[in-house]
Amino acid sequence: MDGQEKPHSLKSHHKRAHGRNSRPQPGFDAADAAAKRQRLAVERQGMPIWAAREALVAEAQAHHTLIVVGETGSGKTTQIPQLLLEAGLAGQRGLIGCTQPRRVAAVTVARRVADEMGVQLGQQVGYSIRFDDATSAATRIKYMTDGMLLREALIDPLLSRYKVVIVDEAHERSVHTDVLLGLLKQVQRRRHQAWQQQQQQQQPQQHTNSSKDHTQHDYQQQSRQQQEGQPQQQQQQLANGHSHHHKSSSSSSSSRHIGPLRLLVMSATLDAGAFSDYFGGARAVWVRGRTHPVTIMNTAQPEENYLDAALCATLQVHVDEPAGDILVFLTGQEEIDSLARLLQERAAALPEGGYGGLGLEVLPIYAALPPEQQVKVFEPAPAGMRKAILATNIAETSITIPGVRYVVDTGFVKARGYSAKLGADSLQVVPVSQAQARQRSGRAGREAPGKAFRLYTEDAFAALPATTPPEITRVNLGSVVLQLKALGVEDVAGFDFMQPPPRAAIVRSLELLFALGALDGKGQLTPDTGAALARLPVDPMYGKVLLAGAASGCAVEAMQLVAMVSSENVFHNPRGKQDAVNSTRAKFLHPEGDQLTLLGVMAAFLQVERRRRPEWASDNFINIRALRKAQDIYAQLKGHLSSLGLPIQSCGSDCVPVQRALVAGLFPHAAKRQPDGTYRVIATGQIVHLHPSSVLRGKAPECVVFSELVRTTRQYAREVTRIQARWLPELAPAFFAAKAGAGVAAEAGGGAQS
Ligand code: CDP
Ligand code: MG
Repeated sequence: MDGQEKPHSLKSHHKRAHGRNSRPQPGFDAADAAAKRQRLAVERQGMPIWAAREALVAEAQAHHTLIVVGETGSGKTTQIPQLLLEAGLAGQRGLIGCTQPRRVAAVTVARRVADEMGVQLGQQVGYSIRFDDATSAATRIKYMTDGMLLREALIDPLLSRYKVVIVDEAHERSVHTDVLLGLLKQVQRRRHQAWQQQQQQQQPQQHTNSSKDHTQHDYQQQSRQQQEGQPQQQQQQLANGHSHHHKSSSSSSSSRHIGPLRLLVMSATLDAGAFSDYFGGARAVWVRGRTHPVTIMNTAQPEENYLDAALCATLQVHVDEPAGDILVFLTGQEEIDSLARLLQERAAALPEGGYGGLGLEVLPIYAALPPEQQVKVFEPAPAGMRKAILATNIAETSITIPGVRYVVDTGFVKARGYSAKLGADSLQVVPVSQAQARQRSGRAGREAPGKAFRLYTEDAFAALPATTPPEITRVNLGSVVLQLKALGVEDVAGFDFMQPPPRAAIVRSLELLFALGALDGKGQLTPDTGAALARLPVDPMYGKVLLAGAASGCAVEAMQLVAMVSSENVFHNPRGKQDAVNSTRAKFLHPEGDQLTLLGVMAAFLQVERRRRPEWASDNFINIRALRKAQDIYAQLKGHLSSLGLPIQSCGSDCVPVQRALVAGLFPHAAKRQPDGTYRVIATGQIVHLHPSSVLRGKAPECVVFSELVRTTRQYAREVTRIQARWLPELAPAFFAAKAGAGVAAEAGGGAQS
């Protein structure tokens, strides 16, 4: 029954690599490619995981569930999927999926691994993130966001194409990772049961021996009873070069049957215990990384403005410290872009350059950056220069940038959180945890001793929380609850979560889904609306906008609108040109609001696309990349609506159907003007202001819906559209009728009815 290959030795691996080298791919310079692959092969062999590769493969063969803990940068994400594929763990044609909480990591790692294997991205190695799929029938290793694998489970509940699923960056505890872990546990159990039955039917004799089989043993370990019966915590350090020779367990035999699912949970921090417990005492192994001492510097006084402080600290490192790249942790795109400009100006103005005359190459990295710019941070700085990489939290553990010797840590991170007071999720800049601060500093000591400059005092560090609570305890669960329902989990509160979300958050999501028509009075998924919303790759509120748009003959506009709000900001605001921007932009502004303005920009773009006027975007201060992305999202949404059998129609220039479709989905974000000119969110009572960038500022619309709340100096509603108050009880009766007791319906419809 054991048809698996033995782990490859170092030697045989080399041969394979050479075999591929000798067959140049069409379309790129063979000598260059060979040289690059040679360099990458050397790099691979220098990674800490290399020495432990045989032991690791043996562990993965022996245990159907394996927890792998390893220092960031040791090679887990890039190497382990390749090792498992080479060892035959994915069978002849099976897939190895590797999930990431962050899109940037999925894309950059896939690219790197394709390079290492000498294949084209999207062939044997691909990635899949929302609205962007680079995989093919040839794909064997698929990097993907955790959310994408959840979506796949809706269509293929047993994840039958996957032989191995690797849940990477599990320590991040993203809400999708947490749900995925629970789901994978179920899938694994079901597939194992099916496989066992099949084995019994085929070879009754084999079954009697199966207690000696590692697979069987492994699954026994996973039962909760045994976990209580004996101490289960096993954590094994994989000694370098040391290898165990376990007997391989069988994976599936024939292609007709799915066979068991292998699961690896990978984490960068030493919290393997929690994951191991959750999987019934699963085996945990530790890959020793290499770290060098990092000297930590704190500021003596609290900094008033962390951006100013980051600018000064980075310049100071550049001037005072010998060669080595600088990694600066900031919170978001706007901050990064503005600091990048300042830093470039100030570095260029240094009369003698940096230390020893070094130049400074400033490189941003964040999720919305186009992929070709993202990969730049991994390339060495040009001769005579050093890199300053301005990063969001993605450089904390998800991606490792070679060459970094200095870290500048602002001590802040942008985190998604549900605010009960606001009744909505919002992105907020919050202090990091101590664990995060340590991870960030550690990035300076990967290749040599390094230095970390923390832009906060030692006392401030001591006052930070030790760790960050998992995302699932603090975000809006609407789309997650909907997905669980669609996966057949009726009792969401009773789902086997690693850490259950607060009950109140589940109840709130159930209420919202009921109001959207996704669930019926018994909490069951409605076959039309609910099933459709679960399939659409957008938040259920926006999904409802699409369905309502289709129902009222404006699917085209609804899709364009959702595509525009899903893309990044299409308006480009160059500094010092505000007057030109204002006068140019005036022609796009729609009197009914921001979402309709965005729709107008898309319409204008589609027109000029036909006339091929490339200068249109820059003439109009439009971010063409964001628009192309939106156009791409629009095309994908069109595919989804078509496959749901919905009519794709346009309502032309009449904007009322579009406004009404917006209300049908965004009604929880409806707000009414107060006598003092502020707005009151009807669902929550929260007081907000219209965002300064809104078309409707100063127009004092009576009633609006908005896309999101952002908190800066005040609480602002961003992307706002004028609506009629009387539409609310008409288009969202369940929501406003239910709240009638609290006077909401009266308030919502009152103005218009009286
Ligand atoms: O997953 P883990 O943090 O253990 O490490 P990894 O992401 O597999 O990275 C292993 C090594 O590959 C690091 O030294 C990275 O700097 C390098 N790498 C790279 O140079 N370029 C990439 N696009 C990805 C990884
Ligand atoms: Mg990794």
